[in-house]
Amino acid sequence: MEIVILDSAEEVGVLAARKIASVLKAATPGVLGVATGSSPLTIYAALATMRQRGEIDLSRTRAFALDEYVGIAESHPESYASVIRREVVEPLAMNPDLVRVPDGRAADIEAACRDYEEAIAAVGGVDIQLLGIGANGHIGFNEPTSSFASRTRIKTLAPRTRADNARFFDNADDVPTHCLTQGLGTILDARHLVLVAQGDSKAEAIRQSVEGPVSSMWPGSALQMHQNATVIIDEGAASRLELADYYRYTYANKPIWQRY
Ligand code: GLP
Repeated sequence: MEIVILDSAEEVGVLAARKIASVLKAATPGVLGVATGSSPLTIYAALATMRQRGEIDLSRTRAFALDEYVGIAESHPESYASVIRREVVEPLAMNPDLVRVPDGRAADIEAACRDYEEAIAAVGGVDIQLLGIGANGHIGFNEPTSSFASRTRIKTLAPRTRADNARFFDNADDVPTHCLTQGLGTILDARHLVLVAQGDSKAEAIRQSVEGPVSSMWPGSALQMHQNATVIIDEGAASRLELADYYRYTYANKPIWQRY
């Protein structure tokens, strides 16, 4: 696992965008795994700037979202279908026909989850999956004790996740109780993983995921099992890492040919 500690959320976004661009350039047009939440917003901003400068073209890139709420209409402004359209597809000029979000409205939820897995497999898998992390260590919506072998399925949101996401809704009770999420096994199948986190509120989740034991109690620790995982964080999120100085030293001495 590569751990990169930077000074600001903006720098985190710029570096993660450069990593995404380098992987997608090699895989053109590529398959991008997209994430919601506040954490990736600086990445999307950096990618939008790169697009305006003509440094990246995502118009033929396919995308798959990690997760979706169950129980709210697709047209709800906080459905992840709406969020991905507003924050990713439009600013990055992606083709909406090539972008999929799990169908949280499906009458047959299990069939919708199977379809999603098959759609990812049909395009040859995800080249690079972008991840944020919840304060309780969830990735996608894989809450603590999610199986490392799990595939796309319905999950019950943890009370803490519902409370954390209440800021996006008028009323805390409006936050759905259920979601569909790619499983940890689905996420681990992506060829590259990039996890970003900013701020002290993520420091414990980062410490447990990066330096703790591999445990379903901290789903982010699944990244320790992946061959190409990059964790890009700011000083706040890095504040509890025991080996922070080593990560800084490693990054400062990264061979030129390995940089992105
Ligand atoms: C959300 C999403 C995750 C996200 C996490 C952290 O509920 N389902 O994909 O990584 O929680 O969100 P934020 O980046 O807003 O802190």
